[in-house]
Amino acid sequence: MAFLRLTFCLALVLAGLFPLPALAAQQPPRVLNLYTGRHYDTDQRLYDLYSAVTGVTINVIQGDADQLIERIRSEGAASPADVLLTVDAGRLWRAETLGLCQPVQSDYLNRRIPEYLRHPAGLWYGFTKRARVIVYAKDRVSPADLSTYEDLANPKWRGRLLVRSSSHVYNLSLAGSLIAAHGEEFVEEWARGVARNLARPPQGGDIDQLRAVAAGLGDIALSNHYYFARLITSANPEDRAAAAALDIFFPNQLDRGTHVNISGGCVVATAPNRAEAVDFLEFLASDGAQAIFALGNQEYPVVAGQLLSPILDRWGPFREDTLNAAVFGANTARALILLNRAGWR
Ligand SMILES: [Fe+2]
Repeated sequence: MAFLRLTFCLALVLAGLFPLPALAAQQPPRVLNLYTGRHYDTDQRLYDLYSAVTGVTINVIQGDADQLIERIRSEGAASPADVLLTVDAGRLWRAETLGLCQPVQSDYLNRRIPEYLRHPAGLWYGFTKRARVIVYAKDRVSPADLSTYEDLANPKWRGRLLVRSSSHVYNLSLAGSLIAAHGEEFVEEWARGVARNLARPPQGGDIDQLRAVAAGLGDIALSNHYYFARLITSANPEDRAAAAALDIFFPNQLDRGTHVNISGGCVVATAPNRAEAVDFLEFLASDGAQAIFALGNQEYPVVAGQLLSPILDRWGPFREDTLNAAVFGANTARALILLNRAGWR
């Protein structure tokens, strides 16, 4: 398997025992066209490493995931896209239902990635995990006041809750998991309560909600965990001061667990370089790539037993909702209708 050779080479390169150009020269020239909706600087290090040890040139096309999906669709059979990477199960579901992904059978991927973080038929795989957490103002909220996502609709949070637009996939995936847990009627009622509790009309992204809590515009916010980690490690002293006023809470620890979304990818149905595409997905599940994900963007590795960033390590382990990402991803379309109808814009 090309992948094992890669792991060996990676170790040599990291150990400084093997000069990169010599290694690359051993491989025939090959290419991989990667369409990615991820927008993290550290991802480039992943691509550089992969190219260095395999000799495969990665052509990166970066953009908004929804636009990339539309682009692959309009390119049709002539699309150069080999791999599509996105940052939400809902988007993977969209790509899958448009017929843009092809099944991959890989014992390595199936062994490394837990079942709930990959498509049941191998249409896509998750490579990192992102917990949707509650971040709260330490001086105004006690962790004892916090419990579940369901409780965010409780009138005790009236005018105190900050969250981005309901139409964003992070919220739609969360609502998709709530549909699976409680049904549609419950979720619409829940969203009505959330909308009533908002401290302001939704605006900005997750990190803006955290800054707003620190500024006193509200007391609690819903956010993906890595935005809080990013605030803590920010080069900007104002961000670090904001982070110092906040703390993290993992919801639903006493029942099904915290909602965990994935960043993942698929081999495009029309991939001209299928072998390289599969090999690249396997690389993303390797120890080396998982470490770069984990340490670079403060995400949780999908592979068990991997290193965590010091901040995530300090937060400690938590119970995850192990609902398959394919289930809540598929529920996102329905969730959008319910959340809108409930008045959460
Ligand atoms: Fe994000």
